[in-house]
Amino acid sequence: MKGVILAGGNATRLRPLTWVTNKHLLPIYNKPMIFYPLEAMARSGIKDVLIITGPSHSGAFINLLKSGKDFGLRLSYEIQEESGGIAQAINLAYDFADNGKILVILGDNIFTQSLKKDVEEFNKKERGAVVYGKNMATQSKQYGVIESKNGKVISIEEKPENPKSEIGQTGIYMYDRRVFDFIKNQKPSKRGELEVTDLNNNYVKEGTMICRILSGWWVDAGTSFDELLKANILVAKEIKKESKK
Ligand code: DAU
Repeated sequence: MKGVILAGGNATRLRPLTWVTNKHLLPIYNKPMIFYPLEAMARSGIKDVLIITGPSHSGAFINLLKSGKDFGLRLSYEIQEESGGIAQAINLAYDFADNGKILVILGDNIFTQSLKKDVEEFNKKERGAVVYGKNMATQSKQYGVIESKNGKVISIEEKPENPKSEIGQTGIYMYDRRVFDFIKNQKPSKRGELEVTDLNNNYVKEGTMICRILSGWWVDAGTSFDELLKANILVAKEIKKESKK
């Protein structure tokens, strides 16, 4: 299984911080944001990771991360020329995936849980997909919302007005190799993007989408200044907790 980290998009919600840099290069306490999903990949046991980013700051990613050796990873890079949506970005991993399964992490998602066991389990499965959910009761309107029964997903709605559950869709997904067939048949949403929620609903329709609830804390640091601040505070606390051990 290989890993894919999405670090494209325009990050308009974080302007003016993102006028001259990519959101995933902003600091989260003592490291650039992109380090956290990379470290999550390394913790999961995955060795080959593709970073997908926009054309404007791609050189900065290579300068910063180089071959990936310092993370124990082999890094590849791909350019998404316009921000056409999460599914469009995932599609750029077609050659890299080489007919295998992929773990996708959105580059602004910061979390503590190790995915190692789940990656091992998913590797043994013949087909299907996994989406990680988290209780987001008060904020669910800002996220995809997952309705599930005994771990099987029944529906996912993108930023709904009337959420059917309190479980929000995080930016962590595992897909079998058919993910690229599904993307090929996808149409842009009203906002002109190939949406990850529409992609995931292909698996929901055939009954092969599993929802796992993420333990520990999780932040989508790219959604607002408050979430960015929250991520900084949580990471700082985590480091202080570790240093006291
Ligand atoms: O983080 C979880 C949420 O991510 C989910 O709950 C939503 O269902 C899902 O649509 C997505 O929502 P966001 O509004 O947070 O997506 P955003 O546009 O912020 O993009 C998320 C990440 O994907 C970000 O790190 C940038 C990257 N991205 C995004 C787009 C649109 C790309 O690499 N290319 C793109 O074209």
